[in-house]
Order: sequence, then structure tokens, then C-alpha cells
Amino acid sequence: MLDQLQALQAQALAELGAVTNRAELDAWDSQYIGKKGQLTQMLRNMGSLSKEERPIFGKAANDVKTVLEAAYAEREKLISDQELAHDLEAGAVDITLPGRPKPTGGLHPSTRTLRRLFEIWGDMGFQVYQSRDIETDDMNFTLLNIPPHHPARDMQDTFYTTTPNVILRTHTSAGQIRAMRELGGNGTKPLRVVLPGMCYRFEQITVRSEVQFHQMEGIAIGKNIHMSDLKGTITEFARRFFSPTAKLRFRSSYFPFTEPSMEIDVECFLCGGEGCRVCKHSGWLEIAGSGMIHPVVLRNGGYDPNEWSGFAFGMGPERMTLLKHGISDIRYFWANDQRFLEQF
Ligand code: DAH
Repeated sequence: MLDQLQALQAQALAELGAVTNRAELDAWDSQYIGKKGQLTQMLRNMGSLSKEERPIFGKAANDVKTVLEAAYAEREKLISDQELAHDLEAGAVDITLPGRPKPTGGLHPSTRTLRRLFEIWGDMGFQVYQSRDIETDDMNFTLLNIPPHHPARDMQDTFYTTTPNVILRTHTSAGQIRAMRELGGNGTKPLRVVLPGMCYRFEQITVRSEVQFHQMEGIAIGKNIHMSDLKGTITEFARRFFSPTAKLRFRSSYFPFTEPSMEIDVECFLCGGEGCRVCKHSGWLEIAGSGMIHPVVLRNGGYDPNEWSGFAFGMGPERMTLLKHGISDIRYFWANDQRFLEQF
């Protein structure tokens, strides 16, 4: 039996030398030293030996086992190294391949316009005030001199909520009273703020109007602020935003929260005032509503209208972006069509 053991060891080692991969190694393992392997089998059959032979055989078998296990471990390491080397080679990066270009993101055209507006108004001394999208009926209408049932409410179709008197703001003018009350020091401090934000109107969606859009409100309150200040300020703004030679036109209008009120047009820069499709052949494009803040509104904001006066304006960033880039349809702004957005 000892001869058999020696023969087994020799054969096993010879076969192991020919093993080149993990599958062969596993097969070798179960053939010789595994639970059902030949060596294990021989150890099990030890019972047929005599008392004297048993320990001699047992020791010899254990020696063989040690030799085979050591040889197995060595082979296993060799195969692992080979596998690793192979994996590394297969996964190697070919640095001569050209890289894949990563598309860079861009800012939404409305965001770009808003940032430009902040820049210009900031340079002109106006601070940004973020008011809220969800407003009370009071802030949006009543305190702006538009009491319940006032016909001017029909100018702006409103999204109501299930909470009474809570609505989505229809214009950024809704933040006027908040800004005055929060920053005006109970009617003791002059004020120069712009209020940007989304507005919502329950309206038919067309090429010129959407149910959601940005507005940018501006208010300036002080002593001795006049209509001429409003005209000068807006003119300076238009020169910076549109072009240094931009021409403006002021048309008398009506808003409940200003008196007097004006609408402001800029000369169409596509046709230079000649008249074209974009300006509907009038030569002018409307960019803002404005006026001198109504005494009732000043009072609601905490200011004494006998001492203080101010002007206000409201402009539409999408409108202005349309004009600036000659875009024909306002619905592109919220359609999330990359072909449109990527052009900016
Ligand atoms: N809130 C008005 C609108 O949405 C625009 C406007 C007009 C704002 C005159 C003003 C203003 O501040 O003075 O139609």
C-alpha cells in the first residue's frame, strides 16, 4: 500500500504540472485530495490494515497529503497570477483612441436673460427681492388697489387654490407690498428693488402667451421721485440691455396700482422701426408696463404718500428674449426641446 501511495503522489504531481487553468485545477483537486479524491479514499480504507501497519501508513499518507496540498497551493497561485495578468491586459485602456466629447450644458434662455437683468439693475443700484409664487388675494390684488369685484381683475385670469384667498400670483407686482413692508423701515427708508419670479395665468396658450412665465418687477421709492426719473431709468436700462442707440416710446395707459400709468415700447431693432413681422409692422415692441406708484399702494406699503413718491415697472423676460433673438413662439420656452435650448 505504501507503494501505491508513492505512485499516487508521483502521478498526481505529474498531472498537476500539466494543469493550465482553473477548471483543470478544480478537477485535479477533486480527483486527488477532495472529499471523494483518491487519497481520501485510501485513508478511508486503512481499516483493512494490521495494527502495526496502520500508523506507518497513516503517517505516510499524511505526508503525501501535505506534499499535494502544498503543490496545489503553489499551482493555484500561478494560475491566479496568470488570470490577473490576462484580465489586466484585456481591460487595458487604449490611450491612442480619440476621447468621447461630453456635451456641455447651457443655461435656459430665460435664466440668461434674468441674470443679465440682475446685472444691469444691480449696477443701477437695485437690490433683488425674491417674493413668493403662492400669494394671498390681498397681496396680488386688494392691496394693489384692486378690490374684490373690481373690473381690473378680469385683466388677469387667476389660478385659485382650494384654500380661500390663496392664489398663484398673476404678476410680480404682488411682491410690491411685501418689499415695502420688509425693507422700507415702516415708511422711513428709500427703496430700490427688483422682484423677479414666475407668474401664472389661467389663459389660453398661444404663440404669444403661456400659463407660466417670468416677470421682473422694479420699484423705486424716495422723496421727489418723478415721472422723469422713471423715463430716464428705463431709457438707460434699454440702452444697456438692447443697444446703446435703443429708442423708447412711452404710451399713456391704465393700471390700478399706478397713476399716471404708461406702457413702454422699444423701437423694433429687427427692422429699425421700418415695420416687420415681429413688430406687427408698427415699428415698436412693447417691453414693460409702468407708472408712478398709486398713493393707496404707497400707504398700504407703510409710506406716507404726502412725503414719499415712487415709480414701478413690470417687464417680461421671455418677451424680451423673444425680441432679442427673433424667436417666433413663446411656447418653446417650456417645451424642453433640446434643439431649441441648445441654441443658446
Ligand atoms: N403687473 C402688470 C402686469 O402684469 C405690469 C405692471 C404695470 C407692473 C405697471 C408695474 C406697473 O409695476 O407699474 O400686467
